[in-house]
Amino acid sequence: MLGRPVTITGLGMHAPAKIVTNDDLAESLDTSDEWIRQRTGIRARRIADPGLSSSDLGILAAQEALADACLSPEDIDLVITATLTPDQLTPATASRIAYGAGCVNAGTYDLSAGCTGFIYGLAMATGSVAAGLHDLVLVVGAETFSRFLDWEDRGTAVLFGDGAGAAVVSPASSPNSGRILGFDLGCDGSGLDILGIPAGGSRMPASHETVDARQHYVKMNGSEVYKFATRVVAPSAGRVLERCGLTVDDIDLFIPHQANLRIIEAGAKNLGIPESKIYTNLQRYGNTSGASIPLCLVEARAEGRLRDGDLVLLMGFGAGLTWGSCLLEWGRGSGGTSAAGADPTGFRDAAGALDGDDGSLGEAG
Ligand SMILES: CC(C)(COP(=O)(O)OP(=O)(O)OC[C@H]1O[C@@H](n2cnc3c(N)ncnc32)[C@H](O)[C@@H]1OP(=O)(O)O)[C@@H](O)C(=O)NCCC(=O)NCCS
Repeated sequence: MLGRPVTITGLGMHAPAKIVTNDDLAESLDTSDEWIRQRTGIRARRIADPGLSSSDLGILAAQEALADACLSPEDIDLVITATLTPDQLTPATASRIAYGAGCVNAGTYDLSAGCTGFIYGLAMATGSVAAGLHDLVLVVGAETFSRFLDWEDRGTAVLFGDGAGAAVVSPASSPNSGRILGFDLGCDGSGLDILGIPAGGSRMPASHETVDARQHYVKMNGSEVYKFATRVVAPSAGRVLERCGLTVDDIDLFIPHQANLRIIEAGAKNLGIPESKIYTNLQRYGNTSGASIPLCLVEARAEGRLRDGDLVLLMGFGAGLTWGSCLLEWGRGSGGTSAAGADPTGFRDAAGALDGDDGSLGEAG
């Protein structure tokens, strides 16, 4: 990639405390724990308490990422929020997160790329820091999917959950700091209608009729999404590997979007990645859309699955139909708490100024 080397220097997450199991759902829906586990791998999901919105979860994740990076909220130049469950159509959820987290010097915007949103956000942050437009960018994936689910539709209600994850994207200060190496982003608009929320926008403004017809909830053609997702994983990952001059054998850890264990297994098989290199946590969280990949990064690091020098492949897919892959080298600067309170960015001087340029598988069934 051109420009300054860029890395992740802080990670954070927030999962609501309320756990809803498959058996809990089966009390009000015609479904079962067995069906959900066999078809998806999901065992439980978190649901945010009434009154909480995506920004509330995003603020908590952002605060944890800032602390992890040993940064003050005032240091952040830009907050990008990837969400398909925004607080409102406008203003941006990113503005609420920046305000709530105290990022008073940051520009803000929301990014809508379905469940690929976090990868897209990471790409925009990386480009911006590499080019020198910004120094410290907070990318937040924040979702309260439960507010947009039709709890009478067993085809969607069992799949999704609430949560938020955040990453601080910064210049990489040394060869040991880790590096974001490259991206592949794409979209196939011919599948626009197979996953989305039909009403509430300018195409179908909200009305009594749209509410009566339950058009303000997520609608999905599951089997078409399934086919799309299994189709795009390997080619997208292949493109980013080729751009970076690497092969699938170089990958140490594969962190895919946590939609469905069967999709993950099929995609990994097409790609030629063994199960031992795949991280999953959808068993406990379901599909948290824009939050799923940062939730994995936080937990993979905590479990010791991310080591200095590891080559990590992130891969997402979702509404749009979008997809995205990111290759990064994990490093000493990639998240700070492991560095015993040291400044993980390594690019601050004593006064704090910037030094400019420089989950295992197998739980289904
Ligand atoms: C949704 C999904 C799990 C459905 O699995 P599937 O094996 O394709 O199942 P089908 O849709 O063919 O449905 C099979 C049967 O199960 C039923 N079914 C659907 N949801 C069910 C549920 N939660 N519990 C019990 N039965 C269910 C269907 O009604 C259907 O019954 P029928 O044969 O009597 O009509 C699967 O298509 C999928 O995971 N798709 C991708 C979804 C996704 O990841 N979206 C987000 C992408 S970011």
